[in-house]
Amino acid sequence: MDELGLNKLFAAFLVAGLLLMTGIKLADVLVPHSELQQNAYVIEVPEGGSDAAAPPVDKGPEPILAMLASADAVAGEKLAKKCVACHVFDSGGANKVGPALWNIVNTDKGVADGFAYSKALAEFGGAWDYAALNLFLAKPKAYISGTKMNFAGLKKPQDRANMIAYLRQQADAPAALPSETEIAAESGS
Ligand code: HEC
Repeated sequence: MDELGLNKLFAAFLVAGLLLMTGIKLADVLVPHSELQQNAYVIEVPEGGSDAAAPPVDKGPEPILAMLASADAVAGEKLAKKCVACHVFDSGGANKVGPALWNIVNTDKGVADGFAYSKALAEFGGAWDYAALNLFLAKPKAYISGTKMNFAGLKKPQDRANMIAYLRQQADAPAALPSETEIAAESGS
């Protein structure tokens, strides 16, 4: 190709480029794109920071060890009406639908003579210390999944404290109240 031919080719590219640019500019003028006044999707962000939107975290039952010293065992005895269909709390009481509960505080789990425990409870391990009773009585099936104790639970921390204060009295010798160290360990502080 001679020099003139190359120039023609170059000119052709130039013209093509210019036409393209004019075309784009023209399209811009003919089809004006309007800015959106608002976001098409409005995302609600509640006031008060991001925490407000976070789902509630299930922290488990509230600690009650610190409440035991001043808990009301008489109120606990009244609450025990919820249990007596299945449990006897007295000394020498027999097993019913549920095991006898005399001396239950600090006794190993699942050891009442002659009671047929669920596998879940029998194999759970540990003693019925105050903290374990708190967890169990708040929601039995949440603490021991598979237990055959059909009881929804005592939602109010004060009720559980009173109930446990009553259980503590239903014993040959009431167990010691929780120490400061145990109270601190339970509330995780
Ligand atoms: C509908 C019957 C029923 C009711 C109501 C009930 N329980 Fe129970 N409870 C049971 C059964 C059954 C078991 C044995 C669970 C297993 O083997 O999984 C049990 C087990 C227990 C244990 C463990 C005993 C052990 O020897 O390890 C405790 C403590 C207890 N119940 C306390 C209570 C208290 C306190 C209440 C009332 C607030 C209550 N229960 C209400 C049926 C009941």
